[in-house]
Amino acid sequence: MKQYIIYLLTLTLIFQLSCAKKMGETSAKVKKDPFIEDLLKKMTLDEKLGQMSLFTTDWESTGPTIRAGYQNDIRSGRCGALFNSHTVDFTTKLQKIAVEESRLKIPLLFGYDVIHGYKTMFPIPLGEAASWDLFAIENSAYIMSKEGAAAGLHWTFAPMVDISRDPRWGRVLEGSGEDPFLGSRIAEARVRGIQGKQTGQTDRLLACVKHFAAYGAPNAGRDYNPAEISERVFREVYLPTYASAVKAGAKTVMTSFNDYDGVPASGNKYLLTDILRKELGFDGFVVTDYTSINEMVKHGVVKDETDAGILAIQAGVDMDMQGGVFQEKIKDGINDGRIKEEQINQSVRTILKIKKDLGLFEDPFKYSSKERESNTILSKAHLEASHDMAKRSIVLLKNDNTLPLKDKTIKILVTGPLADDKNNLIGAWSASGEGRHCVSMYEGLRAHENSKRCTFEYIKGCNVDDKDKSQFEIVLEAAKKADVIILAIGENKDMSGEATSRTMIRIPGVQEELLLALKAIGKPIITVVMNGRPLVLDKVHDHSNAVLETWWLGTQAGHAIAEVIYGVYNPSGKLPMTFPRNEGQIPIFYNEKNTGRPFNPNDKYSSKYIDIPNTPLYPFGYGLSYTSFTFGPPLSNKKLYSLKENVVVTVEIQNTGNYPGEEVVQLYIRDLVSSVTRPVKELKGFQKVFLKKGEKKTLSFTLTPNDLSFYNQNMEWVIEPGDFEIFIGGDSDTQNKVKITIL
Ligand code: BGC
Repeated sequence: MKQYIIYLLTLTLIFQLSCAKKMGETSAKVKKDPFIEDLLKKMTLDEKLGQMSLFTTDWESTGPTIRAGYQNDIRSGRCGALFNSHTVDFTTKLQKIAVEESRLKIPLLFGYDVIHGYKTMFPIPLGEAASWDLFAIENSAYIMSKEGAAAGLHWTFAPMVDISRDPRWGRVLEGSGEDPFLGSRIAEARVRGIQGKQTGQTDRLLACVKHFAAYGAPNAGRDYNPAEISERVFREVYLPTYASAVKAGAKTVMTSFNDYDGVPASGNKYLLTDILRKELGFDGFVVTDYTSINEMVKHGVVKDETDAGILAIQAGVDMDMQGGVFQEKIKDGINDGRIKEEQINQSVRTILKIKKDLGLFEDPFKYSSKERESNTILSKAHLEASHDMAKRSIVLLKNDNTLPLKDKTIKILVTGPLADDKNNLIGAWSASGEGRHCVSMYEGLRAHENSKRCTFEYIKGCNVDDKDKSQFEIVLEAAKKADVIILAIGENKDMSGEATSRTMIRIPGVQEELLLALKAIGKPIITVVMNGRPLVLDKVHDHSNAVLETWWLGTQAGHAIAEVIYGVYNPSGKLPMTFPRNEGQIPIFYNEKNTGRPFNPNDKYSSKYIDIPNTPLYPFGYGLSYTSFTFGPPLSNKKLYSLKENVVVTVEIQNTGNYPGEEVVQLYIRDLVSSVTRPVKELKGFQKVFLKKGEKKTLSFTLTPNDLSFYNQNMEWVIEPGDFEIFIGGDSDTQNKVKITIL
């Protein structure tokens, strides 16, 4: 039996001791500001509750619109923030009502779901995550923020940092996949990109980290379902991304719809106060998700909306999105003493402080420049950045050398329902993005200069989601005359996203039948998959010569895909989520436990399925390149380390193929013996490196004691002595490893 020496880390993990800010209150304790204190004294209770109320306008909605009359609410000071209102014209009109017609002239805060672009659309967040390129991701967040701010906005409901291991859940498209380490680095990059260094810059928005918490773990992958996970899994898998985003300085956090351990998030004091405020030290404001206070009645934890509002305030909510509960219902709770007015004051202080930091009291129209709006949105530089991000997000899943298309004159049949599509390619949370600005794959292929050596025929072939096969015959005739077929299939954009859980995550309609029919013709097939989540691609894999995962790539999709197909850009994306062989394997993720009976093909009583392998179709971190990379063994200059030491491991990587290219070098650890079971692999580092043909580089990775730590049986964050394996390779299947020992 190993002797456990517990080394409590004091500096590193922020949800440990480092977060011992003595908040003690449900809302943030912001430093009192004389201007705000003065304003607070003048405010009636209705006006205070107004600042804590956020409503959608009649322009757009992203849920039930149970409230109307928001313009009168602005006049009477009973609404302090609006969402789904954008453009300089519209926000100016509403801001004028607030600062000219309301008693205290408090400016409005304008929010919107700018998730992967405002008008210049970038790839969906899951697609961006496949780039593993933190610089590009930060830049994309910056540009969407800049366009949003130029359109009169102050605040975006992003980044969504919900980790998810379940591709049935349609909202995986908004996040960065299954891994807490990758997800945390991306969460930080997105917060930095959205907010910049300081609040109040007119090219940045406020970030809103969502959905707190564990929204990505709904039972059975069904949206809004409870997250029934252990505290250990919650803290190790789901919490780190929120913690990282808060640490990166996010000013606001959104609650989630689900319940966690029996308590809906919007009334969950443990989540919102004990963890978010006290452990993580969050000092911004907490907004609910859409009507999620009201929904606590249906969850069955309160008898009516008044009680729901009181529960929310007591838990630590500062702002009610669209429910009208704070505005209409909670005065009773204040009058009968269940809520202290000082608690309301704290929330209002935090909200007003953020408005002040934005500079809105000095100039409520600071973000309302028509000139900036027209110069910024869809600018050439933004389109270039979107193009760059799009090509980095593409993952090459299979290639028998059909790709890239060789340098000779060829006849190409372009087919499939998404081949010349624009509206789906801008993605599911496309804010004010418009399909007409998007470059379809077919357009991109023809626009590229390499198209001069190709001739094209385009036939749509079928729709995404119906049974109509009437065009099959002409597609097959055309296929006979073609040298190569490029087939674009996948999901419509309304098949992934909020409220789009699917039990069968396959390519819908007759699209696979089209692929199979084309296969019978015998010409090489390049299948380009466009979708919002991992799909079951077994048939696509088996019947295509090459497969590209292109998600929904945004405004410049077609140019990016064309560059990859022509070999002008060598694909470097890696999957941020496991792709299963079939739905029965879900949830399937790389960082699973070993079990006491690990997989053994010759042992009936080992952990396995009797119908399919345990392994996924494509593992986490997987993605091919047009070149090949060879790794040397990971090297550590010593084998024995003390508990407090950093472990340094190096690896040599060489480009051994025929193209220059980038590789995502991934480092995983395994703690071989510990007081609680540990995953067979955990990502703890990655570097994206460019290598010319034949070039070699040595990369160095440093693991801190924190990286080797976990929660022990007493839920203390510890590092335990013993052996660790450190793997370095090009995906989570790598067996290229070295063993080190912590003494
Ligand atoms: C979604 C949030 C979104 C909000 C406002 C809700 O339905 O869950 O992610 O920010 O609507 O549009």
